[in-house]
Amino acid sequence: MPVANDERVAEGFLHVNGLCKEYGDVRAVSDVSFALEPGTFFALLGPSGCGKTTLLKLLAGFETPSAGEIHLGGDVITHVPAFRRPLNTVFQHYALFPHMDVTKNVGYALRQQRPRIAKSEIQSRVDEALLMVRLDHLGRRRPWELSGGQQQRVALARALVAQPSVLLLDEPLSALDAKLRVDMQTELKSLQTRLGISFVFVTHDQGEALSMADRIAVMRAGEIVQDSTPQELYDLPVDSWVAGFIGTMNFVPGTVTGASGGLTQITTDAGRFSGIPTTSDLTPGRSAQLALRPERLCLSTPGSGDTATAECTASGVIESFSFHGDQVDCTVRTRTLGAVRVRIPLAGAAHEINLQPGTAVDVGWHPKDARIVPTWNSASRP
Ligand SMILES: Nc1ncnc2c1ncn2[C@@H]1O[C@H](COP(=O)(O)OP(=O)(O)OP(=O)(O)O)[C@@H](O)[C@H]1O
Ligand SMILES: [Mg+2]
Repeated sequence: MPVANDERVAEGFLHVNGLCKEYGDVRAVSDVSFALEPGTFFALLGPSGCGKTTLLKLLAGFETPSAGEIHLGGDVITHVPAFRRPLNTVFQHYALFPHMDVTKNVGYALRQQRPRIAKSEIQSRVDEALLMVRLDHLGRRRPWELSGGQQQRVALARALVAQPSVLLLDEPLSALDAKLRVDMQTELKSLQTRLGISFVFVTHDQGEALSMADRIAVMRAGEIVQDSTPQELYDLPVDSWVAGFIGTMNFVPGTVTGASGGLTQITTDAGRFSGIPTTSDLTPGRSAQLALRPERLCLSTPGSGDTATAECTASGVIESFSFHGDQVDCTVRTRTLGAVRVRIPLAGAAHEINLQPGTAVDVGWHPKDARIVPTWNSASRP
């Protein structure tokens, strides 16, 4: 972890060390540490109640930590009041002032500042912020005369007008409908890239985090359990909980029975599988899961030879399937692996298979496409 109280530390370099927040018996944030280079899109991802908002409030200065430190640009800001921190927050419920037009809403915080900022400067900063969010033509409208997406952009402009070095966003898109949400994801990402400031973006939507973030911190019960790039997180989840939380995963429980050349062997009720990459240091005897992504599996009609190149196969029967335009998701009931979800593109081999419940199929896969992840259960730490 880089040292932050260094004169050469860039403005906007955010460094959090051992941050904790307790509410009575509840440990909402537990020993959280990370360092963000300026210009990073950092997603905080986790289920409801895992401490995302609390962590954001600690960064913003709306809550005082029970322990730990926050450094920004080399300064310790742990106990600096919220209004003096060069951070700004966009909340889920952005509560615009209904009696003020867009321009007044965006300039509100600047008008409150003491010593006073000149009117002309406020005007030019508001204009600049509205231009950034492409609302420069709607400055005279009241909030109720705007669409949901436009209101969200006013809230963004209101946060950006203060020229923060880090922007904190708490589920800012959750009030928007699905189509608008996707448009705003693209817009937010390109805005962040243009501004070159860090965004700390809270979401419980893993698709949103995977598509937008440079780095994702997955939170569970107040702790960051994995902090990596979206690709790493998807490909090498640290345990079975993270593997199941990010995307869809098939699990076969077993025990680690050996390792060689960086690859691991697992023994399950369905047999022994070798040559599989693992995401953690797993010693023999450890309870683990064979983890298979649905899109890494192939499907064939028994005897057709289509899965002949797959090193591992399991025969079964299609239990159900759903159509998604360019691909289908099938649940196959296999004798050895149990129910397995398989995702196949509609082009290619899928044409040859009668994709109906009751059809006998073979599921095939390669050990290098599987992962072995340590089993996590609520009794595990953390
Ligand atoms: N002011 C408070 N007093 C007591 N407990 C609190 C307080 N604020 C949060 N908590 C508790 O801290 C934990 C974390 O809450 P937090 O709001 O940070 O979760 P979250 O990850 O943002 O959840 P969500 O996705 O539902 O918004 C929860 O157990 C919550 O009940
Ligand atoms: Mg929250």
